Amino acid sequence: MNSIAIITKKKNKEEITREEIAFMVNGYLEGEIPDYQMSAFLMAIVCNGMTERETIDLTDVMIQSGETIDLSKIHGKVVDKHSTGGIGDKTTIVLAPLVASCGVKVAKMSGRGLGITGGTIDKLESISGFEVESTKEKFVEQVNKIGVAIMSQTGNVAPADKKIYALRDVTGTTESIPLIASSIMSKKIASGADAIVLDVKVGNGALMKNIEDARALADRMIVIGKHYHKPVKCVLTNMEEPLGYAVGNGIEVMECIDTLRGHGPTDLKELVLTLGSLMVSIAKDCSKEQAYHELEENLKNEKGYNKLKEMIAYQNGNIEDIEVDSFISIKSTNSGFISHINADQIGEIVKKLGAGRMHKEDTIDHGVGISLSVKVGDFVLENEELLKVYYDLQDVNIQEILDCFTFSQDAPKKTPLILEIVE
Ligand code: URA
Repeated sequence: MNSIAIITKKKNKEEITREEIAFMVNGYLEGEIPDYQMSAFLMAIVCNGMTERETIDLTDVMIQSGETIDLSKIHGKVVDKHSTGGIGDKTTIVLAPLVASCGVKVAKMSGRGLGITGGTIDKLESISGFEVESTKEKFVEQVNKIGVAIMSQTGNVAPADKKIYALRDVTGTTESIPLIASSIMSKKIASGADAIVLDVKVGNGALMKNIEDARALADRMIVIGKHYHKPVKCVLTNMEEPLGYAVGNGIEVMECIDTLRGHGPTDLKELVLTLGSLMVSIAKDCSKEQAYHELEENLKNEKGYNKLKEMIAYQNGNIEDIEVDSFISIKSTNSGFISHINADQIGEIVKKLGAGRMHKEDTIDHGVGISLSVKVGDFVLENEELLKVYYDLQDVNIQEILDCFTFSQDAPKKTPLILEIVE
């Protein structure tokens, strides 16, 4: 077998075998296939797709590339959650402790940023001292002791995905249904949860730009779940504007704390309650309404916030010390209703400020970001604050940021946040 022949086969839209997929993936993991050949292979998949069979084989090869975690030592049903990624998507940091505060065990492995979308692990690392690496034994021990852990893909879980994910981040190969489906599902299956709830983001600030693609991605992940006898539920959610107000690392963690203390943005709260009610109802075998009510209560009485504090302390972080730069306030040069906020462009700008990576080895700046002061549908007067830019050393192109906002004289029609639930 040789890699050029396999790349060429995919380029020519031919179906490739499990052995050929394994040759590429394992060869890349072992350093025998260089970045440039793997990038060409990934780009051929982005352009020509993969069949269901190829996607399941790719998922399986990535699972087999490392170890699987045995969560049977965790008492009770473990329900995992994952998002396909969006601008300002900080959901996990609110959701995981809130669900755990209802007595449901949450063993969550999260990723770093991908393309213009941020990653939970990068965000959590803005908390001083917070440790994201662990062994699988410590991971399981933590979940049993305090009910929740959010870690980076520990040691050796789907290491092929970890390496390929980092390459996709910097080679324009993020937006592909088989690559996203196999990346997410390999991690979820290898990390051993009993059931999986997926947040599939749709819109200009997401990897899936339209509802048809999002449905196709959801279907593909459900098919993979069935192959491994794991129930998968997908919530398709709107990502036309950033989720919440904050886009960056440290400022998103601050927004999560605010939300768990009952003051966060409405859209973030709605998403957390929707995903959380699915997770809690599966784990506790109760109705979604009952689960929703319990989650809402634990937002009000701050049980979710206390759980977050407990988790941060357990992972050696200091919640009082979160990296956030100083900010400048940007005022509107128009008056009218905000009819659109270009999430994709906001993501690009925040990444350029230093919140994301241009090269695999880049370190990121946790303190930078953009915090919106308005959402779509709000009315703004000229000279009112539109947003804050948090930055330290970089030059900021204010006009480029202002261009992300579209105004109208009539109130725009708002798209609902929760578009569909595919079970
Ligand atoms: N999240 C992942 O883990 N992988 C992807 O490809 C996209 C989002």
